[in-house]
Amino acid sequence: MSMEKRRIAVLVSGGGTNLQALIDAQDRGEIVNGEIAAVISSAPEAYALERARQASIPSYILARKDYPSSQAMTAALVDKLEELSIDLVVMAGFMTIVTRELFDAYENAVINVHPALIPSFCGKGAYGLHVHEQALAYGVKVSGATVHFVTEECDSGPIILQKAVDVLPEDSPETLQRRIMEQCEWKLLPQAVSLFCQDRLRVEGRAVRILD
Ligand code: GAR
Repeated sequence: MSMEKRRIAVLVSGGGTNLQALIDAQDRGEIVNGEIAAVISSAPEAYALERARQASIPSYILARKDYPSSQAMTAALVDKLEELSIDLVVMAGFMTIVTRELFDAYENAVINVHPALIPSFCGKGAYGLHVHEQALAYGVKVSGATVHFVTEECDSGPIILQKAVDVLPEDSPETLQRRIMEQCEWKLLPQAVSLFCQDRLRVEGRAVRILD
C-alpha cells in the first residue's frame, strides 16, 4: 500500500488487554498501513502503561484531576494528539468523559470498543464489569462487543463491527466479560483499526460501509 502509515493513539485507563491485542496484532503484521504511535492513560497506575513500555511505545498520562474541567482536559488531549500527528484515536477501556473538542478535531476518526451489543447495555453507567452485570440481570441469551465511531452522544456513533457470543446459565459477570473479551473485543478492535488505516470505512448516516 502506497499511502503513508496512519499514526494511532490508544487511550486507556486500566488493564489494557485491548491495547495488548492491538500490539500483538501489530506484531503479526495485521494492522495494515498503521502504527501505534502513542498510548495515553487517564490513570498513572494503569497496567496498560507497563504494556506500552514493554512494547517500546511512547506513553503519556492525562488525568482529569489535573484540569479544571472535562473541556480543559479534552483541549489538552487534542493538543497532544496534534503534536504527535495522530490520525486515529482508539479508546480501549478509556473511562474518562471527553467533550466535543475531540470530535471537532477528529471527525470520524475516534473509535471505541464497548463490551455489549449496542444499543443494549450502553450509555451512562455502562462500563467495564457493570455492562456484564446488567446483561446477566436482564437475562439476555446473547451478548458481545461493538466497535463504533465515537460521537458526542455516549455510545451512539456509527457501528463498525459487532460480534455476539452465547450467555451461559452459569455465567458470572467475570466469566461473561472474559468470553466477550477473548472472542469479540480482542478480534474486532484490531480488525476495525486495520480497516480504518486502509481507508476502507465509509460513514453513511448511521451506517458504516466496509469497502473490499
Ligand atoms: C473492556 O471490556 C472494554 O470494552 C470496556 O472496558 C474494558 C477495558 O479492559 N470498555 C467500556 O466499558 C467502555 N464503555 P482493558 O483495559 O483490559 O482493555
